Amino acid sequence: MPRPLLLFECGMTKITFIDSGDVARTVDAEIGATVMETALKNGVPEIEAECGGACACATCHVYVDEAWFEKTGGPSPMEEDMLDFGYEVKPNSRLSCQIKVSEELDGLIVRTPERQA
Ligand code: FES
Repeated sequence: MPRPLLLFECGMTKITFIDSGDVARTVDAEIGATVMETALKNGVPEIEAECGGACACATCHVYVDEAWFEKTGGPSPMEEDMLDFGYEVKPNSRLSCQIKVSEELDGLIVRTPERQA
């Protein structure tokens, strides 16, 4: 018998990271963690996160898939200022340390830039 609520019960969701070479990696993400923490924990390349999540380095820059951008919400003013230091910033750019994993973001897709700031 299938258990469709298993992911919910475990407090886990899925995030897919697509790197600059178009390689997709789908990993488990713990609810309450950040997208950046999820990437580091799973050895996702192209995310450096030099400041450890303090919104002070812009090396955790990702492009949120268009279909998900509204759900993740826009960047805060502080994040926007830091994004100015990002590499090839686009309208759907976010700092992954500022995106909290939630049930609503199950299935989130983000792309990583060719290089970080
Ligand atoms: S880890 Fe430094 S801004 Fe996100």
